[in-house]
Amino acid sequence: MSRPPRRATPRRYLMCPPAHFKVTYSINPWMDPAKPVDVPLALTQWGDLRDRYLSLGHTVEVLEPVPGLPDMVFAANGATVVDGRVLGARFAFRQRSLEAAAHLAWFRAHGYAEVREPEHINEGEGDFAVTASYLLAGRGFRASPLSHGEAQEFFGRPVIGLDLIDPRYYHLDTALAVLDEAADEIMYYPGAFSAGSREVLRRLFPDALVASDADAAALGLNAVSDGLHVLLPQAAVGLAEALRERGYLPVGVDLSELLKGGGSVKCCTLELRPDGCGWPGVRP
Ligand code: ARG
Repeated sequence: MSRPPRRATPRRYLMCPPAHFKVTYSINPWMDPAKPVDVPLALTQWGDLRDRYLSLGHTVEVLEPVPGLPDMVFAANGATVVDGRVLGARFAFRQRSLEAAAHLAWFRAHGYAEVREPEHINEGEGDFAVTASYLLAGRGFRASPLSHGEAQEFFGRPVIGLDLIDPRYYHLDTALAVLDEAADEIMYYPGAFSAGSREVLRRLFPDALVASDADAAALGLNAVSDGLHVLLPQAAVGLAEALRERGYLPVGVDLSELLKGGGSVKCCTLELRPDGCGWPGVRP
């Protein structure tokens, strides 16, 4: 198949250092409070990810970590930002609920005029993924299905609801990643979705890259693409190879400490999509 050349576009991300990272509770199957966490190593690994983004020409904003909120490093869960509009989060578990206010305060302090405090439970980009045509929205473990209607109304983009069925893939971003928004190109792990949702994904994204069990289990779908470089957990070697074949440049990242919280590259990265979204080829 002939494919257009891949092209990176500069991005703006919001990240939060794991200064207070811990695994003291378990709200997903990856979290085992009995396993020790090495905070200095977590900080180093997180710093390497931030430095990668910077070296690729992206901008990284930093959210001040709050003591007592050990999962705050997973900044992707704090909001969804599309066309410069911010839909805040409302967390499913009380252990994370205070993160929502910290995010809202950051956006309000940084000149975002349209900031919505949500009515329904949604964990930001954990369950929302953006392509030019759609807002893909996971449900089943965290986001309320009602948050899908709320997001569609707020962003004015069509929402496609997707049912997650495997507790290991409790957020959409553990099972699906957008590779090229403008071209509506994604990668995903079918086993994480209900039969009906798998069919929807096949219909909408017939050319998607389909991940293996092993790559999904390495949290390989928890990836961030700038249109050319795809940063993903380094253990997802099959996925890296498949990305290379498609003309992407996979960049393996070691976030082993944060994996103990059930997150990796994408979970640590909230994308701040500007007005108009700035993607070449985006349909008006
Ligand atoms: N321990 C966190 C939780 O269970 C991990 C969140 C990971 N973030 C993500 N975007 N998948 O909520």
